[in-house]
Amino acid sequence: MARVAVVTGGTRGIGAAISVALKNKGYRVAANYGGNDAAARQFQSEHGIPVFKFDVGDYGACEKGVAQIVKEVGPVEVLVNNAGITRDGMLHRMSKESWDAVIRTNLDSVFNMTRLVVEGMRARNFGRIVSISSINGRKGQIGQANYSAAKAGLLGFTKAVAQEGAAKGITCNVIAPGYIGTEMVAAMPKEVLETKILPFIPVGRLGTTEDVARCVAFLAADEAGFITGACLDANGGQYMA
Ligand code: CAA
Repeated sequence: MARVAVVTGGTRGIGAAISVALKNKGYRVAANYGGNDAAARQFQSEHGIPVFKFDVGDYGACEKGVAQIVKEVGPVEVLVNNAGITRDGMLHRMSKESWDAVIRTNLDSVFNMTRLVVEGMRARNFGRIVSISSINGRKGQIGQANYSAAKAGLLGFTKAVAQEGAAKGITCNVIAPGYIGTEMVAAMPKEVLETKILPFIPVGRLGTTEDVARCVAFLAADEAGFITGACLDANGGQYMA
């Protein structure tokens, strides 16, 4: 029986590529999304992957959303914590709202979703948890105190949960993508991207969503059971930790 994979923020950008890559590997995929109904509808009709709308930053909404996925698709064996937002700004100008929004969507969400699937994974002695961090959680980034803090938080979370799950067949890993050609990166000031980012990517290009999706497929595989608590960088050589 094909394994069930849930991808948060799974209908657009990196998440959409992850959903499609896992489907192509034979998983039964459920793609979560937060707000963009039109994009989700188009994604569903294009790829035949069911979509589930709920706010991953809201624990109660996740409880209902995960219960619906379990009922309609099956018990969650692979969780990909991908949903994320940016609210960039220098710290001395950052609002409390921008801080809270990013921590809630990028870090609280990972607790919410993982907490709700991990008991089932323990009971079944199998689980794959993959969270999408960022190069900027590894090295910090001007204008991203909130985002860098949340993405760095995923690294600590992953190492703790990896130790807790190891004896139960559950792996927990993190991927730290660099600058990928998505709407999120397109929203950056063009001048910053061209003068402060692109010249420092040795591979000489932005990453593609598929560059990240293949990392997820690798870590989600049954055969990846000896890889846990790891951080896989996919950043074109921009940062080597
Ligand atoms: N590296 C070095 N210096 C930088 C810089 C950078 N990446 N970005 C800005 N600066 C410098 C500016 O040149 C400026 O210096 P001077 O005062 O000497 O001219 C100073 O920092 C302040 O910049 P601004 O006056 O432009 O301040 P601002 O408030 O208008 O904007 C900013 C600052 C919000 C940081 C803006 O430059 C910005 O949005 N930068 C992009 C931040 C970024 O990398 N976001 C990533 C989005 S994609 C993503 O998050 C996905 C992922 O995981 C990689």
